[in-house]
Amino acid sequence: MCSAIAVNAPVGVMDSGVGGLTVLKHLTRQLPHEHFRYFADSAYAPYGNKTTAEIQQRCFSIADTLITQGSKALVVACNTATAAAIAAMRERYTLPIIGMEPAVKPAAAASKNGIIGVLATTGTLKSAQFAALLEHYGQGVQVVTQACVGLVECIEQGQLNTPQTVSLLQQYCQPLMAAGADTIVLGCTHYPFVKKQIQEIVGPEVTLIDTGAAVAKRLQQVLEQKKILNTARDAGNFVFLTSGTEETERVMHQLWNAE
Ligand code: DGL
Repeated sequence: MCSAIAVNAPVGVMDSGVGGLTVLKHLTRQLPHEHFRYFADSAYAPYGNKTTAEIQQRCFSIADTLITQGSKALVVACNTATAAAIAAMRERYTLPIIGMEPAVKPAAAASKNGIIGVLATTGTLKSAQFAALLEHYGQGVQVVTQACVGLVECIEQGQLNTPQTVSLLQQYCQPLMAAGADTIVLGCTHYPFVKKQIQEIVGPEVTLIDTGAAVAKRLQQVLEQKKILNTARDAGNFVFLTSGTEETERVMHQLWNAE
């Protein structure tokens, strides 16, 4: 009886704002029969310059909301929040929680010249989790990191092509190009929304890597292992929630329908 309710329950997906929608795209493609509740914490974005304690508090508050709405699992579709809060969340909640981290491992495997760039938030790059990631998978390659201060704010406003956004992207890609990186990790879930713009700046020879597809596969694995995969044949639904304004809702729909 309980498991019958659980399989039809939604999966909660959370991010500091609209960025996790780039992950939700992959989740809905990989798991078309699942229902999703997506929470954009745009009133509190960006997380990249917040303390660990502040991010943990926000994550608890959102998780409480998504769990109250009946979520059977949570996806933290945010590299910064995963680094700051996923351990504390797993201690506090019993449901499965899937997080994400910059794709250093696949980038190191894909790089031909052994130079990889990582674009991410200050919070992610300063975290102990990222240091551990480099320790495990960054050996034998040169890793050039770049914090993209101010970029999340532009994307939160739906500004993907404005002079300000393009100028920030040029500024942040420049050191990676100067170092000769042939592979660049998009280490923040907001950045795939400007993937085309980044590709134009760095050129077609450079490979850009993000983690959305890997997170979707991981969620499927976990739902299968826990026997809570939705086996219904009909299409799942998704609902957008936000701590932001009506403008946030407009941007969410703009970005969701953009591709
Ligand atoms: N989307 C986020 C990430 O993946 C966080 C951006 C922010 O709020 O600074 O890191």
